[in-house]
Amino acid sequence: MPLPRPRAKAAAPVIELERVGKSYRAGALDVTALRDVSTSIAAGEYVAIVGPSGSGKSTLMHIIGCLDVLTTGIYRLSGEDVSTMTEAELAEIRNRRIGFVFQQFNLLPSLSALRNVELPLVYRGERRDVRRQRARTALERVGLATRVEHRPGELSGGQQQRVAVARALVGDPSLILADEPTGNLDSTATRDVLDLLDELHDSGRTIVLITHEREVADRARRVLHIRDGVIESDSGPGTSAGTSAAGTSVSGTSESGTSESAPASAGTVARP
Ligand SMILES: Nc1ncnc2c1ncn2[C@@H]1O[C@H](COP(=O)(O)OP(=O)(O)OP(=O)(O)O)[C@@H](O)[C@H]1O
Ligand SMILES: [Mg+2]
Repeated sequence: MPLPRPRAKAAAPVIELERVGKSYRAGALDVTALRDVSTSIAAGEYVAIVGPSGSGKSTLMHIIGCLDVLTTGIYRLSGEDVSTMTEAELAEIRNRRIGFVFQQFNLLPSLSALRNVELPLVYRGERRDVRRQRARTALERVGLATRVEHRPGELSGGQQQRVAVARALVGDPSLILADEPTGNLDSTATRDVLDLLDELHDSGRTIVLITHEREVADRARRVLHIRDGVIESDSGPGTSAGTSAAGTSVSGTSESGTSESAPASAGTVARP
């Protein structure tokens, strides 16, 4: 007899920032990129971060993605204080739990689309046949089944970004971080990439996306405005439209029967 479906764990934040500050030292000058940023993002949310150039959006995303460390405050990822983690643990998180997509695609030019998508699984020590299969499935999922042997230079910008999305999802991460993923794309390619992000959100992933574009921010259920390193406004948690599996990695969706695996180990290819 089927058990009653567990209620979505609405209150379980994946991302909790408590008075987070970040300063950079540039020569003799201290630049404060973030000041007292406090917010939390629940599993299954789709959040857009918007704000003027230099306002601290990428800095915030780098902290959320464990690509950079904060100067003050506390960052908890799935309840765990990131500052207590070792570099090896952080690398593991970047590889298994987070999928990154960047404006410049960050693909390795000498590798085919297939090999690019496989990379996160290489860092994970996955067997070759398994990697290949998962990378193919991910490329099919983004509509590039006929381009697996193409190198980035032989693909359009939109196709390159779809390869990057395939690379971000191949590891089946629960969190997708995208920094201006459509910044270099025309409107058709923008729509394709946004549709893919919608699908990932619908299948339960948490999405945090940075953008300058209104049309892009409109896809998110929640918009955070940031200015001069401070959250200026927050439209508030939207209905977390994900499934009850909110935030946990969703594997075994029909077409990706393989619970494919992860983003590039950020320390290597995905670092912006
Ligand atoms: N590595 C660094 N060293 C020194 N200052 C930095 C560094 N990275 C960012 N900054 C400064 O921190 C501030 C925030 O930068 P950030 O890249 O987060 O802005 P952004 O909102 O992503 O801007 P854009 O929309 O142009 O990408 C800027 O003033 C920038 O000059
Ligand atoms: Mg930026």
